[in-house]
Amino acid sequence: MTTPPRDARALSLLHHRAESLHKGDPLSLPLTLSSVFHLPGDPQAEFTYGRFSTPVWQELEAQLGVIEAADCVVFPSGMAAIAAVFYAHLKSGDRVLMPSDGYYTGRVLLERFLVKLGVEPVLRPTLDFATTPLDGFAMAFIETPSNPGLEVCDIAAFSARAKAAGVLTVVDNTTCTAFLQQPLDLGADLVVVSDTKSSAGHSDVLLGHVAARDPGLLQQVRDWRTLSGAIPGPFEAWLTHRGLETLDVRLERMCRSAGVIAERFAAHPAVQSVRYPGLADDPSHAIAAKQMSGFGFIISLTLESAEAAEAFITSCTALASTTSFGGVHSSAERRARWGDAVAPGFVRLSVGVEPTEALWSAFAAALPG
Ligand SMILES: Cc1ncc(COP(=O)(O)O)c(C=O)c1O
Repeated sequence: MTTPPRDARALSLLHHRAESLHKGDPLSLPLTLSSVFHLPGDPQAEFTYGRFSTPVWQELEAQLGVIEAADCVVFPSGMAAIAAVFYAHLKSGDRVLMPSDGYYTGRVLLERFLVKLGVEPVLRPTLDFATTPLDGFAMAFIETPSNPGLEVCDIAAFSARAKAAGVLTVVDNTTCTAFLQQPLDLGADLVVVSDTKSSAGHSDVLLGHVAARDPGLLQQVRDWRTLSGAIPGPFEAWLTHRGLETLDVRLERMCRSAGVIAERFAAHPAVQSVRYPGLADDPSHAIAAKQMSGFGFIISLTLESAEAAEAFITSCTALASTTSFGGVHSSAERRARWGDAVAPGFVRLSVGVEPTEALWSAFAAALPG
């Protein structure tokens, strides 16, 4: 399948319901709150019971399908999507290659719950994925750019090696979304996204999805959802559907601002180091330029100390002091507070949709010195 260009997908996303509309129908997606559906006689119907499918999810999955150019299954959070992939596709004796420097909860899930079912996680830094021998693995889970270090893995090169070794490649595309990076085009088998972040984009909902082009791989994940009951609520699905309508335009502002601001952080004397894949001298730049169509909205910067980082975050008038990323409000946090293996003064900063220069002025005013 050839994925249409981003503009074409952004346009189709906004009009994806047009063909199903009848005269007098509401243009906005109706919020349907029903666990059961009128079902006399033969139970074959589009909707039967709310754990199997609902009108709001169906529209959300269609909309996500436009961005991914693939079929999608939605979940109540990014972690529920990741858990579904693990439980649907791993069995006793399987080894899984996991990033030691990616979002930590996936590792914890494997270690706490899947190890006792006989699954063996093998942790390696994202940068080592390029050279780790893949024989004997059942699944490899890539996060690129990684959260929070923004290390990048060459998805096409890795997926080709994985395919040759019979390893299923799963890519966590949360830091990009399919508008900035298309792992399925690059050979990945399954994509997971926490739509809690930029996809929904307003910091008011948790949701996640799995995308795949192989119907068999995705059906296993869908069956897991139906049987485990890990289903999103209709209001959460509706909020995500509404948020996605502006994802393209939000990403445009967020990525443009992030590019400008990363350059300025890099030139600022109080900033010890900056990671942003869009910086020409960033170690990730060459691979990022090859596989991403935009460099994202997350900047990682290191200040002198934990105190300096906390003071920057809390005194800045344009930074929400929160965890997570991808919202319309710029936000930041010191990742060492969660135990990530980063310097005490390391700040993960998510650039929001505020006007670029006003945002930079607020950041500059809050930096030491
Ligand atoms: C890269 C990445 N993947 C997955 C998740 C999990 O998403 P959720 O919080 O929606 O379960 C997160 C959350 O921060 C994340 O950063």
